[in-house]
Amino acid sequence: MNRQQGPIGVFDSGYGGLTVLKEIVKELPQYDYIYLGDNGRAPYGIRSFETVYHYTLECVQHLFRMGCHLVVLACNTASAKALRTIQQNDLPKIDPERRVLGIIRPTTEIVGNHTRSRQVGIFGTSGTVNSQSYPIEIEKFFPDVQVFQQACPMWVPLVENNEYNSEGADYFINKYIRQLLVQSGDIDTIVLGCTHYPLLADKIQEHLPPGITLLSQGELLAKSLAGYLRRHPEMQAKCSTGGGRTFYTTDDTETFDRQAGIFFGDSITSRHLAL
Ligand code: DGL
Repeated sequence: MNRQQGPIGVFDSGYGGLTVLKEIVKELPQYDYIYLGDNGRAPYGIRSFETVYHYTLECVQHLFRMGCHLVVLACNTASAKALRTIQQNDLPKIDPERRVLGIIRPTTEIVGNHTRSRQVGIFGTSGTVNSQSYPIEIEKFFPDVQVFQQACPMWVPLVENNEYNSEGADYFINKYIRQLLVQSGDIDTIVLGCTHYPLLADKIQEHLPPGITLLSQGELLAKSLAGYLRRHPEMQAKCSTGGGRTFYTTDDTETFDRQAGIFFGDSITSRHLAL
């Protein structure tokens, strides 16, 4: 690897982005990747705009220092609250040649191709839902699609605490599904707008009425990243190849390695990043 090249950085507030990285490495196995989970300061979903922005920017800068030219925010909350400011205000000052991409746009670009009823539901963290990022972005691509949102503040803690197969999970899945579907009986497509939620996908599907399509974001983002690199050969040339995968957590590495395997589907040995 020469200095002109570096790994692709993948960032999340904690474990959730590993569900995305798993799909990215399936689609683009040739590249080197650095994953950074800010477990020490997660969850982000309940924090203010300012806090999420500062935490995300700090982590992005760490990934740049580790040699990444391209960083993917595999976190909806960070994409909703920090991406635009980082792209518009910070990157021109830090290094206009580096890029940061988010997870919301690849989802909103295609969601209208999945719904026949033109009524779409979004499950997300309170931060993502309150930011209105999904309705605003979907309106740009599919102005005829109506968007209904439901914040699911208990789902991230259930997943983080390994309770995603418990009776408690059934209770809170059912609760938020009812709260979404009471807003409209015609929703036929639901976006799992938080990278932690794929671990609950089977249970969510069990509790949903038949005929509703659930969209997880990992594959969508992987395909969108592949398309981005095809359209930007200058960035592709800066992404080092060799199949390296390096994992950093801002919290305890032993706990991270134990939990992370469940999200990534493979065993992980992480390093600690002190902030
Ligand atoms: N994984 C993050 C997301 O996609 C949420 C987790 C958190 O609240 O930190 O929104």
